Amino acid sequence: MCGIVGYVGQNEAAPILLDGLARLEYRGYDSAGMAVYHDGEIEIVKAKGRLRVLRELTNNGLDLKGTIGIGHTRWATHGEPSVTNSHPHFNKDKSIVVVHNGIIENHQPLRDRLIRKGYRFISDTDTEVVAHMLDNYYNGDPLEAISKVMTRIEGSYALGVLFKDHPGEMYAVRKDSPLIVGVSDEGNFIASDIPAILNHTRNVYFIDNMEIVKLTREAVAFYNIDKEEIEKTMTVIDWDMEAAEKGGYEHFMLKEIYEQPKAVRDTINPRIKDGEIVIDEWHMTEEEVQNLNKIFIVACGSAYHAGISGKYVIEGIARIPVEVDVASEFRYRDPIIDDNSLVIVISQSGETADSLAALREAQRKGVKVLGIVNVVGSSIAREADSVLYTWAGLEIAVATTKAYSTQLAALYLLAIYLGNKRGKLEYAQYKQMVEELQELPDKIQSLLGDKERIQWFASKFAASRDIFYVGRGVDYATCMEGSLKLKEISYIHSEAYAAGELKHGTISLVEDGILVASVLTQPQLYEKTVSNMVEVKARGAYVMALTNIGNYDVEDVANFTIYIPKTNPWFTTSLAIIPLQLFAYYVSLARGLDVDKPRNLAKSVTVE
Ligand code: M6R
Repeated sequence: MCGIVGYVGQNEAAPILLDGLARLEYRGYDSAGMAVYHDGEIEIVKAKGRLRVLRELTNNGLDLKGTIGIGHTRWATHGEPSVTNSHPHFNKDKSIVVVHNGIIENHQPLRDRLIRKGYRFISDTDTEVVAHMLDNYYNGDPLEAISKVMTRIEGSYALGVLFKDHPGEMYAVRKDSPLIVGVSDEGNFIASDIPAILNHTRNVYFIDNMEIVKLTREAVAFYNIDKEEIEKTMTVIDWDMEAAEKGGYEHFMLKEIYEQPKAVRDTINPRIKDGEIVIDEWHMTEEEVQNLNKIFIVACGSAYHAGISGKYVIEGIARIPVEVDVASEFRYRDPIIDDNSLVIVISQSGETADSLAALREAQRKGVKVLGIVNVVGSSIAREADSVLYTWAGLEIAVATTKAYSTQLAALYLLAIYLGNKRGKLEYAQYKQMVEELQELPDKIQSLLGDKERIQWFASKFAASRDIFYVGRGVDYATCMEGSLKLKEISYIHSEAYAAGELKHGTISLVEDGILVASVLTQPQLYEKTVSNMVEVKARGAYVMALTNIGNYDVEDVANFTIYIPKTNPWFTTSLAIIPLQLFAYYVSLARGLDVDKPRNLAKSVTVE
């Protein structure tokens, strides 16, 4: 999604903006632009395509003079990717300039009204409405104009604004799109995400919904929508640029795959004390835990897949019914939820628009929400009733790996915790599960050692047109994530099927040489999935098996086999997903694609 960076200070702004935008590239974009104030004029440079083009146009920013400016990377929503549609956008006499992340939902009626008032639009964007509305309400007081616009626009937005007759001042606001403020002795910043400014400062403020910020070289001031000044608490970021760099790996995705043992360990270990699971962050009384009659898990993409694994595990261990919903469906389907339900919202970024809306929908129905979130201080983390942080650290690659693995770990913790508290586990069983949980990071580590064999295998199938994944139970959930990983970074069509469902239509897609990856880690379902492997092999498929060490008879059917270490069957997704992530990575690499920034995708999906 779009990225915003703004700077006001003692240094030249454009090189700082370009550097910050480069650190937001992972969010996904298709054009970029900057506006810099100098000598009483606001100069804008925009380019379609990669930031490299903007760099070339401005001689790495050196040709764009001025110490205050706003920059933007655009992920097209309204209007095709083009120079005209890229940000910043001007008002009619180029005295007000705006960058925007989000969607102005009522842009069409506002546009119609502005046209009737004589405003002329040059772009197809929703953002241009904001520039003209600011013009319409501006009477010399930026705060007044901004607050008036905020009361009239609907949707989600983070905005950065410059006013020509207020030199040295930058304004920013947000509603449901991320925005932070950074402060330093060299100047002050706005940004969509922390990495954009981490080279300059660790001191940040998280802007809340409907708040306005005014930044000058020396100071930042925060206001509510009534233009009353408000106090905010500064947060010192405790991770550094190293986390935002590749550290010798060819891609962030590979680096993040390798960080999984640590990420999973960091998520599990602080919650185990003297062999017992302790979840201090979860504000549920003993009575509420006992009365819990249903859990809803709501998320998008990979987080949703973690939720599907979680459903099997929570139902299996704690015997509580679990419904898993895609957030964009949950928010509109008026779900039937009673007081004894719990809603769990899972999100890496904590900013996914649909997941945030689902959280609010649940709270509106009077139900408590537990967030399983990676980004500290993000919107979902702040709005949830309790937060279980997944300590994966900064994740940059668009295709999630380590955050997903930590989401699984968090769900296992919850399942065992609830199973124990509700008397569904024998004490010895409980203790053993806790031990097995703690062994997962080392087992994940051991799987990373198999990467050359997987790379070789991936190179054989890099030219595939379709690849299928099949499994049963927890393995089906693993397949869904394995398939998503592959399609998002390799652009190969892929589907995941419940293995027992193949005969009901899908098997007609199987033809000579097609790869069918079968995941079979569940002892009670093993023979059933082997039968499904036999069926697809008989129709010409090349069969890969992903199973537990010891299941060597699978080689009677499989053409290629990957073994995972033994663990409790409920936890096998954490192990089986590792070879599938590596497979997707190496297929994408073999096809020469942009592994970390796949086409059309954004890391943080802050629009509906
Ligand atoms: O930040 P979130 O976890 O809420 O993001 C949800 C999805 O957008 C995300 O998992 C997406 O599917 C990833 N690209 C998958 O790799």
